[in-house]
Amino acid sequence: MSERTGTTRRIDFAQLGGVAALALLAACSGPTPSTSGAGNASTANVASAPAVVVTDGTFRCIRDLTPVRNFFVGNVLGNVDATVAVAQSPIGGTYPPGSLLQVIPTTAMVKHQPGHNPPTNDWEFIELEVNAQGAKILGRGFEELNMRSGPNCFACHEPAKAAWDMVCEGDHGCPPIPLSPVTLLALQNTDPQCPTIELPQDQHDALAALAASGAPPPAR
Ligand code: HEC
Repeated sequence: MSERTGTTRRIDFAQLGGVAALALLAACSGPTPSTSGAGNASTANVASAPAVVVTDGTFRCIRDLTPVRNFFVGNVLGNVDATVAVAQSPIGGTYPPGSLLQVIPTTAMVKHQPGHNPPTNDWEFIELEVNAQGAKILGRGFEELNMRSGPNCFACHEPAKAAWDMVCEGDHGCPPIPLSPVTLLALQNTDPQCPTIELPQDQHDALAALAASGAPPPAR
């Protein structure tokens, strides 16, 4: 097996500061999730629902989630079956609270309780750094969250909202990402949080092409 240390991505602390500031802004200006059950009377019915809590420890080996087509799903409230049911529905649907979606190890969407943030259908967007020790949240937020590399998560995912609850996949109307299906597979299969597995040649080639393209390495 080849060493992958050469592709290790270092944290850009300047950017990290910017992302952290964005996340902080989101925390201050966004609707506040109620964890206590007290407070906002207009969301009284929401307040009794369990809060969806997301921390670094929420994320682990992407392949331990449930595979659906080319992506992986889970549910941080334990309701995996309901999440899988929507993901597998041929007509789409609204993902239940707690749903966790990932197609590469370094990005995730997590569904909060109804009413938490209506413009994003209650999805929170999250960017991660992952290594063998686990995941670290680099940025999180709602409409405002930009990837470290620049583009805005919501701007791309919002066009899919009608039937697909902002889930893009390959053909739900979102602007495409520059990662082919085999590249996505290769990134999933080299998640450093997972046990090492042998990569087929086409996935090796896809990773080499990605590195050569100068694109920011999404899984490192
Ligand atoms: C340039 C547009 C674009 C941007 C920016 C973008 N995405 Fe996506 N995202 C997509 C597309 C297209 C797919 C589907 C890829 C596929 O399956 O081929 C996708 C897939 C996903 C998936 C798997 C579920 C799904 O919708 O198919 C998650 C989770 C996700 N993105 C999260 C994020 C997060 C978090 C951010 C920001 C940190 C982000 N994305 C930024 C376009 C984008």
